[in-house]
Amino acid sequence: MKIKNICCIGAGYVGGPTMAVIALKCKDILVNVVDINLERINAWNNKDLTMLPIYEPGLDQIIKKCRNKNLFFSNDLNTGIKNADMIFISVNTPTKSQGIGAGEASDLRWIELSARQIAENSTGHTIVVEKSTLPVRTAETIKNILESQNKTGKNKGETTFSVLSNPEFLAEGTAINNLINPDRVLIGGDDDVAIDKLGSIYERWINPKKIIKTNLWSSELSKLTANAFLAQRVSSINSISAICESSGANIKEVTKAIGMDSRIGANFLQSGPGFGGSCFKKDILNIIYLCNFYGLNEVADYWSSVLKINRWQQKRISKTIIEKLFNTIAGKKISILGFAYKANTNDTRESPAISIAKDLLNEDALLAIYDPKVSAKQITKDLDSKQLNEKQIFNKNSGWYLSKSINETFNGADAIIILTDWEEFKKLNLKEISNLMRKPAWIFDTRNLIDLEKEDLYGINIWSLGNT
Ligand code: NAD
Ligand code: UGA
Repeated sequence: MKIKNICCIGAGYVGGPTMAVIALKCKDILVNVVDINLERINAWNNKDLTMLPIYEPGLDQIIKKCRNKNLFFSNDLNTGIKNADMIFISVNTPTKSQGIGAGEASDLRWIELSARQIAENSTGHTIVVEKSTLPVRTAETIKNILESQNKTGKNKGETTFSVLSNPEFLAEGTAINNLINPDRVLIGGDDDVAIDKLGSIYERWINPKKIIKTNLWSSELSKLTANAFLAQRVSSINSISAICESSGANIKEVTKAIGMDSRIGANFLQSGPGFGGSCFKKDILNIIYLCNFYGLNEVADYWSSVLKINRWQQKRISKTIIEKLFNTIAGKKISILGFAYKANTNDTRESPAISIAKDLLNEDALLAIYDPKVSAKQITKDLDSKQLNEKQIFNKNSGWYLSKSINETFNGADAIIILTDWEEFKKLNLKEISNLMRKPAWIFDTRNLIDLEKEDLYGINIWSLGNT
């Protein structure tokens, strides 16, 4: 039997784009994306494509082509589940904030809730696919919930399930390209028929050689491991950026020299303000929890150090800014360029901009924030404070506001901090900017976007990460 109807629980950064691409590539499959968050579902259904809940280049055009044809967004979970042959679970799996394992273990309440909703509402045989990133052996819990319902629930004896792990490797900002042309697709499971059915969906557009099949636990662990390795590379190069600053070496030169070694490779070697995003930290914490559970304390310490360097990198940037501005930034206007954790997304989860902005606000600075995609509502939530009104800005009160234009942030500013690698920050007109700033003026370039060799700095002092 071919898969004709797919349901995806969770319409977030993974569920939305992933299902949009499946709908685009499989016109004969009906794809229903369901979510308990009605505001999010309404945004997915908004006629104005600039109002979609997530910003991802290329996504709006796919939504335009498929929405209300074979791609639907709804908050009717029960119907979506009931009609599906295959259900993807793409719900959030954040780190637990309280209780046993708080600060390390994943909070699986939304996974369990999804499993219970599936158990109660599905009919016939259903393939359940873990899309969310999960601790190793979560599939066991899901199977347990599904099977116990089958033994005792309202559909007693009438429902059967296969559970597969199919972690997602997309990166935000490049999600559509990653989904259309992935490095690999990983499917873990022990039911060959179910694996083939899921595999045959991807084979419609992906070379079968790229589709890897493993056991469930290898699949779950591979996802955590991939993120841990990527994060470790960022912490490694960031640790070297500090040595460069102290020793007179240059981070760009070092990166080029090591990246040309084919065993190391040039990708993912860009030093910066520390990694952000909802997953690297959470997934490493998950590995640490697992290690401690298995008594692998040295392994836990090894991965903890990746997080420690990441925190330290953010702190040392705040400290450097304050020191260079004569150890006082009270009442000084500071232009913050970029609030998202990376370019081409409106996502701010774990963004280094949050902790750096908080450090500067603690010193009573006035922050003029500019980001092409992040809203004031989101920043209010992240900084846990309201933005200043016009009178307060005029009086140079301490606090923050979201600037409508990038140039406004430079007006009278003592410093500019480049935090996100948005394309437009690579083309700053330093001559014009210098005229707008108060002197002595500083640029703190945490992404190495300004070419120190080519650019005339027009009297602006510059601190560029990984350079003396
Ligand atoms: P998200 O927070 O953007 O989206 C999750 C959605 O699930 C939310 O809209 C939430 O309302 C919904 N939800 C939660 N419980 C539900 C329930 N019981 N029924 C219906 N809807 C429910 O999260 P995300 O960034 O899409 O991440 C989802 C998972 O994918 C996580 O495990 C994450 O680690 C993993 N992942 C994320 C990325 C990424 O780039 N964001 C990439 C790969 C993997
Ligand atoms: C990452 C992984 O790249 C994806 O494969 C994975 O699916 C995803 O996490 C997930 O599981 O959520 P993402 O966090 O969206 O994707 O973005 P990345 O491009 O990996 O960047 C993460 C952070 O590292 C960003 O803050 C970025 O600025 C930083 N980074 C990245 C660097 O500082 N230097 C680099 O060279 C690369």
